[in-house]
Amino acid sequence: MKVVTHENYDQMSKNVAQRIAQVVTKKPNAVLCLPTGSTPIGLYREIIRLHKEENLDFSNVTAFNLDEYFGLPEEHPQSYSYYLWNRLYKHINIPKENIHYIRVLSNKLEDVDQYCQEHDATINELGGFDLLVDGIGLNGHIGFNEPADELIPHTHLEPLSQSTIDENSRFFDSKNDVPRYALTMGMGTIFKAKQIILIASGSHKSEIVHKILHSNVTTQIPATLLHLHQNIEMHLDHEAAKLL
Ligand code: PGA
Repeated sequence: MKVVTHENYDQMSKNVAQRIAQVVTKKPNAVLCLPTGSTPIGLYREIIRLHKEENLDFSNVTAFNLDEYFGLPEEHPQSYSYYLWNRLYKHINIPKENIHYIRVLSNKLEDVDQYCQEHDATINELGGFDLLVDGIGLNGHIGFNEPADELIPHTHLEPLSQSTIDENSRFFDSKNDVPRYALTMGMGTIFKAKQIILIASGSHKSEIVHKILHSNVTTQIPATLLHLHQNIEMHLDHEAAKLL
């Protein structure tokens, strides 16, 4: 895994935005898979700037997001479709029909399974992702693939770990309001990306970054599986890299 350390968050965001711009410029119909969370906020700000000031064109781009809370209405400010629409999509010229959220309206498990299969089939038909960008959870989760003895390869419903519920409770009024389940792409779907960029910022991420880079591959730290991917970079700001 190649590691790229940046002076600060702003530099990291700008650099990764440039990487997305390169992919989209080289292949105007690129398929992207994009993250949510606090880490990519600067990245999206920079992409919007590149679109508005340098005419970066998204008119043929297709975008997926990695995961979504299960059971939150679409218009809930913490839903990932709300996040991506408001922080990125509505500010660039990506056509609505090219935006793929992970969103199932039914709560019935057989409908969820069916939905997940169809979701993976759509990704397969498009040939996987040209570029997948993701943040890193404090417990090493990727998307919402939580540490476990076994990981599920395809898109699925995942119970959230206590660590993720605690970490994400900062976005909700109380811990009780954090959904207990999420839909996430599995590691197999993530591996369909031709290129993966992991991003981490802040000293609170330094320990998990160190662990990922120095551990053997283990499902107890899902991000370590990415050591097996042939084209992956981890981009860090100075603080996240401080234990390296
Ligand atoms: P964060 O989340 O960007 O809010 O730190 C990353 C993650 O949990 O994947």
